[in-house]
Amino acid sequence: MSGYTGLYDQCDQYWNTSAAKIYRISHKTAEAEAHGAEVVDENGRRFLDFACSYGVFLLGHTHKQIVAAVTEQTLTLAMRPAGTRHPSAIALWNALQPWLPPSMSGLHFAHTGSECSEMTLRLISHRSPDRRRIVVAENGYHGKTLAALDIMGQSGHSALFGASPAEVVRVPYGDAESLNYAFQEPVAALFLEPVLGGPFITVPPAGYLQMARDLCDTQDSLLVFDEIQTAFGRAGEMMECTTQGVSPDLLFLSKGLTGGCAAMACVVSHERLSETIASLPEEFGNPRAGQPVACEAGVAAIRVIEEENLIQRARESGAYLRERLLAVTAPYPEIILDVPGKGLMTGVKCAHPGIELMLLMGMDKQNIHLGYSLNEAAAHPVLRFYPPLSVTREQIDRVADALASVLAEVAARPAFMRRFMNWFTKHKYGFPDWLYKLA
Ligand SMILES: Cc1ncc(COP(=O)(O)O)c(C=O)c1O
Repeated sequence: MSGYTGLYDQCDQYWNTSAAKIYRISHKTAEAEAHGAEVVDENGRRFLDFACSYGVFLLGHTHKQIVAAVTEQTLTLAMRPAGTRHPSAIALWNALQPWLPPSMSGLHFAHTGSECSEMTLRLISHRSPDRRRIVVAENGYHGKTLAALDIMGQSGHSALFGASPAEVVRVPYGDAESLNYAFQEPVAALFLEPVLGGPFITVPPAGYLQMARDLCDTQDSLLVFDEIQTAFGRAGEMMECTTQGVSPDLLFLSKGLTGGCAAMACVVSHERLSETIASLPEEFGNPRAGQPVACEAGVAAIRVIEEENLIQRARESGAYLRERLLAVTAPYPEIILDVPGKGLMTGVKCAHPGIELMLLMGMDKQNIHLGYSLNEAAAHPVLRFYPPLSVTREQIDRVADALASVLAEVAARPAFMRRFMNWFTKHKYGFPDWLYKLA
């Protein structure tokens, strides 16, 4: 384990100062090995992983079937040259296709979710250059990149697509009236997560996605569903939009797509966009993405979901997890405001970020990893419980029992201490470095 010595000093110096601060405050160690729902740290300490990197490790860590598929493809042909195609991409399409809404006909690769957004913004500029308005949900998340085309020195490339659509209108998630209002002006596209994720987990009211579809249809606007977090069983369905019978024009997939064994994302497009996509001056996707090894990971992940009946299991385990979380949090309404979610996309909504931090630290002492918010500045963050879909009742019980004892400890602390933790969380990056090293 000697390679881990000084890791956080190096993290501080070379990569990510704020992450190093968080690691020091929370006494976080580095993950050295992981299998199934268990993570082993640099000191050999074992954790139950109910964070799964915010949903990436949907099928648990190092699933044997996916690792075997990746290994075999790596030994055969891991990568192909940019711009060429490989049968693995077709195999992935064939595996995905039965789970998609009707009439989805195109598969366009990327490496990250942010890239899916970038590609889509390019498509929008090309399709409706006169429409500037993009409607998104408040607290939605579609990536963090910033306009690479704008700084492209080869002006021919940026000239092909014109300016990026700039007028972004944010509407409260799930609110029909605000959504209607946003469509008073011509809308180029509406981006929605079928269940709002991050530390804001919110299930929309029934009919919201269909209403979004209808509004887009009245104006010939593009409807984009970002299922990067919800799909592949996280929210208890293979695809949320398919289950609700609403076809988007574009669908984003990533995270669980490869069971966490390769970085890959894709945009799936409806057949009504085929001509527009074909008329793009450059490829819609990233010609370097969709490598054979990533596609084979995707095929294997979908097979695992099917063969292990993981969607049904996620629904049942999700219902059980929420039932247990509701029961253990009920005595503490001043600390936990709600247990929102659907399927295994759930968590506890904390009265303030200081509570989230205290619960996180308490659960860490009990050897349990949860998904916490770092920089989202949520007033009432949802501390996320995102176990692998194969989670067992015993594992859920262990986590719920641990939460019960941590909540009792937190509730017993004086109110001023809880307020201090809230103040501390808000200023967590603002202290001198030596203080974090003491922590
Ligand atoms: C719903 C959603 N969309 C987009 C993204 C951005 O993906 P990436 O971090 O791969 O760029 C994320 C990342 O967490 C996400 O959860």
